This record gives sequence, structure tokens and C-alpha cells, in this order.
Amino acid sequence: MNAQMNANADVTPLNARAQHFISQPRKVLIDGRWVSAKSGQTFDVFNPATGQRIAWAAACEKPDVDAAVAAARKAFDEGPWPRMTPSERGKIIWKIGDLIQTNLEELAQLESLDNGKPIVVARAADVPLAADLFHYMAGWATKIEGNTIALSVPYTPGAEYHAYTRKEPIGVVGQIIPWNFPLLMAAWKLGPALATGCTIVLKVAEETPLSGLRLAELCQEAGLPDGVLNVLTGFGETCGAPLAAHPQVDKVAFTGSTEVGKLIVKAAANDLKKVTLELGGKSPNIILDDADLDTAIPGAANAIFFNQGQCCCAGSRLFVHEKHYDKVVEGVAEFARNIRVGPGLDTRTQMGPLVSQIQFDRVSGFLRSGTEEGARALCGGNRAGTTGYFVEPTVLVDTTNDMKVYREEIFGPVVTASPFKDADADLLRRANDTTYGLAAGIYTRDIGKAHRIANKLRAGTVWINCYNIFDAALPFGGYKQSGWGREMGHDALNNYLETKAICAAI
Ligand code: NAI
Ligand code: MG
Repeated sequence: MNAQMNANADVTPLNARAQHFISQPRKVLIDGRWVSAKSGQTFDVFNPATGQRIAWAAACEKPDVDAAVAAARKAFDEGPWPRMTPSERGKIIWKIGDLIQTNLEELAQLESLDNGKPIVVARAADVPLAADLFHYMAGWATKIEGNTIALSVPYTPGAEYHAYTRKEPIGVVGQIIPWNFPLLMAAWKLGPALATGCTIVLKVAEETPLSGLRLAELCQEAGLPDGVLNVLTGFGETCGAPLAAHPQVDKVAFTGSTEVGKLIVKAAANDLKKVTLELGGKSPNIILDDADLDTAIPGAANAIFFNQGQCCCAGSRLFVHEKHYDKVVEGVAEFARNIRVGPGLDTRTQMGPLVSQIQFDRVSGFLRSGTEEGARALCGGNRAGTTGYFVEPTVLVDTTNDMKVYREEIFGPVVTASPFKDADADLLRRANDTTYGLAAGIYTRDIGKAHRIANKLRAGTVWINCYNIFDAALPFGGYKQSGWGREMGHDALNNYLETKAICAAI
């Protein structure tokens, strides 16, 4: 066990601004003003490395949702935002990206403290990717275009028409995000909604409310008009559910569990509001017989252990050609044994705690069920340390396709490994044998074979000789029960636009 849990010189002390941010109960942003929940209630925010309370957030409920939706409605129906020139909108969105960069260290510290993730990762990935998303989407504000269309109407011979389409913002959007990448998920959601001229009520996850609230302050500083972005903190059933069901919300965008995704669809069905969903995964990662194992072994390890395994696209089912099976699984296990597990704010930490007691219990339950069903942990399999929500990175072998650990999303640092004989139809059937379809990985030196396999994998993202590569320009989302619609890239804009066809007789 290599958990490093004690405070020491490598632990980043919170800077004055992050310290100030957590020192008082956090309010929420409604109509440009920072307010408490109408009930006056707050809830505790915990440090997952210690289980100690670090901050308080407002426990918003239906009356707060109603106020936030009313503000977003007014900002959309009457406010300047949808009426501004696209160039003016784009400049404000660009400035949000700049302000994220200026405040990188504070945001990284809040993220690491709140979520538990290594601060070196928050500094290098979460915060810069969030800034880049706004910079990327800022450019789209001026590039949203319809078409002109030549008509051939058979029953009006000789008539002439000028027909064209306009892309218009969909309206008020409710956005509900999870805790695994709190700032980045907020950016993925807000960027396209702002670029298209929508107004927003964002509910951040109850586990990790801090960075989203700080981002809302930066959006105000960038000049976003009042009511365009409203940010609420609160629990799923009491704050998320009334937002998803609200009749004045035109569209809901959700990232989280497949179970709640289905509830969102049911809630939205009442008034047929538009829905996009980014849900779970059980992604296959395939190592072929000609793979460069020096790339594939650390690649397979990072595919599952990155972010403590709390990634919807985690490479959680590893398939290895039988020729290399023993070497690869032993290599991934060796990599896992050497991962430095510790508090996120320790700069030497490579893997932090899971986000919460609930997530710790859930992942521990999967580890127990794996053992009960006959899987063997080549490494890990247990809690790490005695405080906080740390779990050892774990490689499970001797798994079969009916085991819970093989079929269900664990959302922790646990990979199942299985051998295969040939890169044939049977391998593809096994790789696709899941209700999910978010991502997949392939390691091989045969680039033709890689693309042929990529074409046959039922997944929204396929990585070849790499994994977990994200870019604001690259669409991300799921086939099957991994979701509806795409985030990022220009694909994401369509989820926030209506198409209006206009036909004039001339
Ligand atoms: P969750 O789906 O319950 O929570 C995600 C968000 O939805 C949070 O903001 C939560 O407050 C909200 N929410 C919960 N119930 C709601 C409801 N009835 N109506 C509206 N909003 C609601 O996910 P949870 O419980 O945190 O994690 C459970 C599992 O979900 C994880 O173990 C993992 O398998 C999966 N998950 C997937 C994520 C992804 O990125 N696709 C992210 C987080 C969790
Ligand atoms: Mg839940």
C-alpha cells in the first residue's frame, strides 16, 4: 500500500482567494444577484481526502428553481443577450475563457479540494480545457448560419420564392451536471448554450458545487447580462427534478447516471421539451497482437485509472490478445501498484480519493461482488488507508461476461481484463456486448485494421493508440444507453438551436 496521506511540504496550501471562497456559506446566482436558498437551508460540502466539511452551499429547492427559471425566461424573452450581435456575444464568451486562465490556480485548488482530484491534473487538464472550450465556442457565435433553398413547388407553376432557414436559439435551457469534472462539465454545457444565445439555469452537483459557483462569478465579470446564467446548488430530487420538469424550460441537458437520465426523459415528456443526455459507459479497450506494448500497457492503465476511474468513458473492459495477455495484465497491475495514491492537494499524488462516501461504498460493493462471483484481483481490491474515500487501483482477472463487475459501470479505479484469440467478429461481438456505447480504444500497429475495427465499434468515440484525448472541437457522446446528442465540436450547437424555414413569394 503506497497511500501518502499525511500533510507535508508537498501539499499545496490554499491561496488566499480559494481560502476566502470557502470561508463563508456560498450563495447562488439568480438574475444577477447572489442569494441564499429561499428556505435559508444550507448543506455541507466535504473534502473527500478526509471526510471533513470544507464549505457550505445553499440547499435550493423548487421555489429557487422557479425564481431562476423566471429570470432565465425574462432574460431570453426580453433581455439583451439573444438580441446582441453575435460578435458582441462571442467577445463575452471569449473573455470567460480568458478569466478562467487568469484564475487558473484558484480554480484548480477549489477543484482539487472539492472533488479530490490531483491538483497537477486540475492545473494541466480540467482548468485549461474549460478555458479552451469557451474560446472555441466564442468563435462559433459569429458562424451560426442557415441556408438559402431553391424550391420546386409543383402546384404553383411559374411562382418564384425566396426560401431560407434561420438558426434560432432554443430558449431557456436547464443543465444538470455531475461531480467527476465539475468545472469542465459546466464549460461543456455552458459554452454551446451561450454561443447560440440561449439563457441558462445550471444545477451543479451536490458533491462538488464550488468551482461552478466561482465560474458564475467569472461569467459576471466577463459581462454576461443578468439572468443569462443562473446557477443553483442543491440535491437531485429536490432541485434537479423540478428543473427537469419545469414547464418554462425549453430544453434539458443532463450528464450523470443512466438511471437519472431515464427520469429526466420521463420528466421532459410531459411538455415534450428537448433533451440531450450524456450517460454512463462500459468501454472496451482492445490490445491487438501487433500492438506496441510500451504504449499499450500504460495506455490501458491510464484509460481506467485517470480521475480515480470516475470517467464515463473509462476503459473499464480490457481485451488483450492471448499472446500478450499475461504480460499486459501483469504490466497494468505493476503500473497500478506504483500509482501514488493520496490527497489531491499533494503535488506528488497521482490518484486521489473517490468523490464521496456514497461513491466509496458503491465501488467497495462492486469489489466485494467481484470476489463473490469468482473474479481475482491481480492487484488492489481494497480500501487504501483508513480515512477519506481512497480505493486501491484494481485489476480483476478471471472475469466472465455475466459478472456484475463486467457488465455494470463501476465508476472507480477497477478494470476487468479478458483474453481473446483473434481480432474477428467474435471479438467485436464481445466488445459491443454492453448496453452502453460511449467510447472504445484500440492498440495496434496495423492502421488499416484499426480503422476497420473502429468502424464496427458501436461507440461515440474511438481512440486508436491513445485514450482520454479530449478537445473542444471533437464531439463527445454516446450510442445506445450512453446518451442522446453530442457535447463539444460544432455538433453541440445543434442541440441548442431551432431551425426556422421562411418562405416568401416574390
Ligand atoms: P446522478 O445521476 O444521481 O447525479 C448527477 C446529477 O444529477 C447531479 O447533479 C444530481 O444532483 C442530479 N440528479 C440526481 N437525481 C436527479 C433527479 N431525479 N432529477 C434531476 N437531477 C437529478 O449520479 P450519482 O448518483 O452522482 O452517481 C451515480 C452513478 O452515475 C455513478 O456511479 C456513475 O456510474 C454514474 N455517473 C456518470 C457520470 C457521467 O459522466 N456520465 C457522472 C456521474 C455519475
Ligand atoms: Mg444519484
